Amino acid sequence: MKKIGILFGRENTFPWAFIERVNQKEGKDIVAEPVSIEKVEQADPTEYAVIIDRISQDVPFYRAYLKNAALCGTAVINNPFWWSADEKFFNNCLALKVGVPVPNTVLLPSYERPDDTTEESFRNLKMMDWNYIFKYIGFPAYMKPHSGGGWKSVYKVESPDDLWVKHAETEQLVMMLQEEIVFDDYFRCYCIGQKYVHIMPYEPRNPHHLRYDSQLKATGPAAKKLLDTVHDYVMRLNLALGYDFNTVEFAVRDGVPIAIDFCNPAPDAELTSVGQANFDWVVEAAANMAIEKAKAHKAGQMNLTWGTFTQAGVTGDMSVMGGVAKAKKAKK
Ligand SMILES: Nc1ncnc2c1ncn2[C@@H]1O[C@H](COP(=O)(O)OP(=O)(O)O)[C@@H](O)[C@H]1O
Ligand SMILES: [Mg+2]
Repeated sequence: MKKIGILFGRENTFPWAFIERVNQKEGKDIVAEPVSIEKVEQADPTEYAVIIDRISQDVPFYRAYLKNAALCGTAVINNPFWWSADEKFFNNCLALKVGVPVPNTVLLPSYERPDDTTEESFRNLKMMDWNYIFKYIGFPAYMKPHSGGGWKSVYKVESPDDLWVKHAETEQLVMMLQEEIVFDDYFRCYCIGQKYVHIMPYEPRNPHHLRYDSQLKATGPAAKKLLDTVHDYVMRLNLALGYDFNTVEFAVRDGVPIAIDFCNPAPDAELTSVGQANFDWVVEAAANMAIEKAKAHKAGQMNLTWGTFTQAGVTGDMSVMGGVAKAKKAKK
């Protein structure tokens, strides 16, 4: 018998529905249950073939537990090593390398110096070239943490003066300054197992509970082309990043989907926020993916997923990140 575990925090609906669905579909040779931990000993394997991680971004103890689990053969979703290394500014850099449009973006040094650093720690940093930056980004702009989520510390800034005031509030956070995309359509897309894609029209300007109550505004052939492009971009990003459970957000300007937020390795999947139809989709796709991973799991092997970026890092061959050809193939 193989076990699929799910590690989670304050979520109330998704984990239980996921467990129930896996056990309905399998339940004998493969069973799902909440992960249970009573000791964590170095190089000691867990009892799980697969663990779905929904919480280690908030609990460093779990992240360390999962790295050991992965080394001992558990297929941990998402890859805890890659997740620890990843952040949003790098995501944008990688998106451009795999041919996915992103808003013009720069990285800003934190307003306050990190603890235990002095002026001398910043000898390499010159005065930012603000003239260039303001021309490249324009106003209004968005300023947001290079690593984070949940709309925390996301600012709309109207002018250089507004930027100075708001940047001063961000303390030690490293922020990105980003061109505003004024959009016609907006999507949030689940991507599961690097092949199951669900595109949800989303209206970020609505109150939280109504954000998924949105309709596609493009019509006719333009709508089909747009959805095909979104699907292609979702695949390119997730193949490059190597996430098996992620969401990608796009703002659509002049018919072009521009990726806004695609580092969400524990994306919201609560029934109360995503609604019944999206919830049913994500439960089904996650159950199928976890069952496939459990079936493919081999004892004595590493069972982690790595993206094409990390594969390129090992072989030196950047062409594996090509995205386009691979994404097309995976779509079938
Ligand atoms: N460049 C941008 N142009 C337009 N809207 C943006 C931009 N960046 C962020 N937003 C808005 O702010 C929201 C939160 O930003 P996002 O990058 O998704 O951060 P988080 O990871 O905290 O969700 C987005 O859903 C979108 O509505
Ligand atoms: Mg977001």
